[in-house]
Amino acid sequence: MLNTLGNRLPSVGNRNNGVVVSDEMFSVRIVPVVVLHDAHDAEPLGRALMAGGLPVAEVTFRTAAAADSIRAMAAIEGLIVGAGTVLNPAQVEQAVSAGAQFIVSPGLRHDVVLAAQAAGVPVLPGAVTPSEIMAAQELGLDTVKFFPANVYGGAAAIKALSAPFGGMRFVPTGGVSASNISDYLSLGCVPAVGGSWMVPVDAIREGAFTSVTELCRDAVAAAAAVGK
Ligand code: 3PG
Repeated sequence: MLNTLGNRLPSVGNRNNGVVVSDEMFSVRIVPVVVLHDAHDAEPLGRALMAGGLPVAEVTFRTAAAADSIRAMAAIEGLIVGAGTVLNPAQVEQAVSAGAQFIVSPGLRHDVVLAAQAAGVPVLPGAVTPSEIMAAQELGLDTVKFFPANVYGGAAAIKALSAPFGGMRFVPTGGVSASNISDYLSLGCVPAVGGSWMVPVDAIREGAFTSVTELCRDAVAAAAAVGK
């Protein structure tokens, strides 16, 4: 399948940005957004996430440790690891070579989306305005990151945008926590939220992985409670 710019889309699912992997990465409806300053923390953190019931991690390219951290996490069986804060095609290449299974970007850059599509991995670019969402559609995407969700109108904004953009799915990230997760997850157009509240940088730095696991368990329980 080709997108409207004539580029071949990943043939990893029956939807155009790779729903097979996406639905797996959204299985518990939370994507932990991880900042790792030391790649040595990646493996214990990955295991802490798994133990807490969150078999997915978005490792952000905000630190020099990102690629090595992705490599370490990609070796953990059952953990789906992707790259976040991907700002340019070179980082797409670095992330995918390290084993990233999905790409997340804070905004929409055509060359980033095209590089991810060419590499055959699902990509979630940030899109918060109607024009950005239309640009994402033009690139053949059906899921975008809605970031920073708390600043761009939260659940009310997503609900309003889902009226004209019926087929679009939104992954709100930024300011999401256990206290407002249900506002987002109760929307049909939200497959998952992203957030860092269960992976505090200080806890990682201190090696407090048991407390990360506890936070993950609470987050998973909060997500599971939505709609019950
Ligand atoms: C991101 O990059 O997606 C956000 O920084 C995560 O936002 P949060 O720290 O408010 O959860």
